[in-house]
Amino acid sequence: MRADIQFIHRPSPGWKADGKVFVVIDVLRATTTIIEALSHGCTEVIPVVTVDEAFSLAKRLPRRDTLVGGEEGGLKVKGFDLGNSPREYTRDFVSGKRVILTTTNGTKALHSVADCEHVFVASFTNAHGVVQRCSNLNADPVIVPAGMKGRFSLEDVVCGGMLIDLLEKEGFAVTDGARASRILYKAFARNLVEMARTCEHGRELIRLGFEEDLAFCVQTNVSSCVPVFKKGSVTLD
Ligand code: MLT
Repeated sequence: MRADIQFIHRPSPGWKADGKVFVVIDVLRATTTIIEALSHGCTEVIPVVTVDEAFSLAKRLPRRDTLVGGEEGGLKVKGFDLGNSPREYTRDFVSGKRVILTTTNGTKALHSVADCEHVFVASFTNAHGVVQRCSNLNADPVIVPAGMKGRFSLEDVVCGGMLIDLLEKEGFAVTDGARASRILYKAFARNLVEMARTCEHGRELIRLGFEEDLAFCVQTNVSSCVPVFKKGSVTLD
């Protein structure tokens, strides 16, 4: 089995061939938030691409067990129950509830692989669990960093590099791109908080008042949850 990474998420013909498992990463903050929500008893996360879609889906689902969350420009949308800070997704708030989530890059990245058979949701917080699940499948892992509006995002590729490092230790072969992401991960492994504070997205989150999210999002292996995206919904299987 061979592991690959899309440095820049740019779907090209044939990239979704059979026999692959897709691992979507949006460290800051969508996939970290999804992992946090499901770790705290949220029943499912429904990622949608736009704010309008989120409102319109919410109208069709029972209000008592449905929350709407996410961001536009990094900030909570007026009328939503939650923003996109993983720290908001506490057990008190999300246990027993479904969350409709829309974000600038993360939920779009998930939708780009919505028709694929195997899709896992990953971040630093659940890296080990994701690698274990990949090892149990007879499939080639493809890491999909969400990026920033089609541009490279350091934090997602560094997290991808961590997964590649673990996959190599499990005996996976790796592509040149995957090796490069592992080198990047090794360069920042000793100080992931500093990496998060200095990357473009991290600086923007500090500007918006979400500095505390950065250290939270780069905690490694604090969750054993491996969310699976299937038929439009992210659950723990
Ligand atoms: C995204 O999807 O781009 C992010 O999760 C945005 C954010 O920081 O909330």
